[in-house]
Amino acid sequence: MSSRVFRAPGRVNLIGEFTDYNDGFVMPAAVDFATRVAVTKRPDRMLGMHSANVGQHREFPLDDPAAHPAEDWSDYVRGVAVILERLGHRLQGADLEIEGDVPMGAGLSSSASIEVATALALIANSGLSLGLKEIAELCQRAENEFAGSRCGIMDQFISCFGKTGHALLLDCRSLDYRQIPMPTGVRLVICNTMVRHQHSSGEYNNRRADCEAGARHFARSLRDVTLADLSSHGDGLTETVYRRCRHVITENARVERAAQALEQNDLDTLGVLMGESHRSLRDDFEVSCPELDLMVDLALASPGIRGARMTGGGFGGCAIALVEQDRVDDFVKQVREGYRNSTGTTPELYVTSAANGAEELFPPA
Ligand code: GLA
Repeated sequence: MSSRVFRAPGRVNLIGEFTDYNDGFVMPAAVDFATRVAVTKRPDRMLGMHSANVGQHREFPLDDPAAHPAEDWSDYVRGVAVILERLGHRLQGADLEIEGDVPMGAGLSSSASIEVATALALIANSGLSLGLKEIAELCQRAENEFAGSRCGIMDQFISCFGKTGHALLLDCRSLDYRQIPMPTGVRLVICNTMVRHQHSSGEYNNRRADCEAGARHFARSLRDVTLADLSSHGDGLTETVYRRCRHVITENARVERAAQALEQNDLDTLGVLMGESHRSLRDDFEVSCPELDLMVDLALASPGIRGARMTGGGFGGCAIALVEQDRVDDFVKQVREGYRNSTGTTPELYVTSAANGAEELFPPA
């Protein structure tokens, strides 16, 4: 039986961390790393899935109202099927062959890329038609309701809407977005600390609960709270929640200024904002770690650097650096050596550019 193949990319976030689930702004870009899902129809109502990366095969009935997570990679796949069915879409049985090159546990949204590629595959396989916004939202639900991480919409959205050579400014409340060309002459260098983060770990959900405590206190989402509100009405907050709120409020303002800076090709301002974002994540939101701080310091002291910060959910994973194209080789060499000398671990550095969002590969004519 013939199969169709869909790909969905991972992402790197330029700025706007932990603002997505606070109705705020983010500015990610899709990257060249992606998950590919080949789908073949089955006559029954079974979902077979094989991960080439993990070397495992799983099979689940689509008719299982008590479906519960297996707590492994298959949850991202099965979660999408479960949510599609809950939304009333009747799926055709399918065999999915899944493989990808998004580094896992590195904060580059390998899970969102699996979800989005799976969604496209299942939707096409069942002869359904859904818009990309709807797909991003249902993949987020799969992660929230099935895979157990209370993530926001950023990763799934950029995996759907990425555009080659562009960053995407997203308003996570309205889901309005603007694609902003990346300046020529700089590359995105992703610097992997090799410290694996646990995406659905308690800390991510704890931070979200802190933000919700802040939003309850102000009786509105943190996107609508100002620094002036925080200093005049923040008394009743615990010191921790106060700092979490301060991060979200200042980060939202930074994203808006960063988008303007990018549009004006003002890399100096963008670099300053990235630095402020990193310090706010380290000190107020407390999601950095010594390896990420070291990586950012090394990046900031290396040739061609225009700005650097941790990116994604934190506690390990990657930093993102904006580096002048003609200094990239020296940059990579210096950061790699510096990190290896300080930690004994050789980091992976990926020189990337903004890539396209999810799509069918070799679509039928
Ligand atoms: C993870 C989540 C996103 C977002 C980031 C932090 O990547 O999946 O929704 O909250 O962390 O900005």
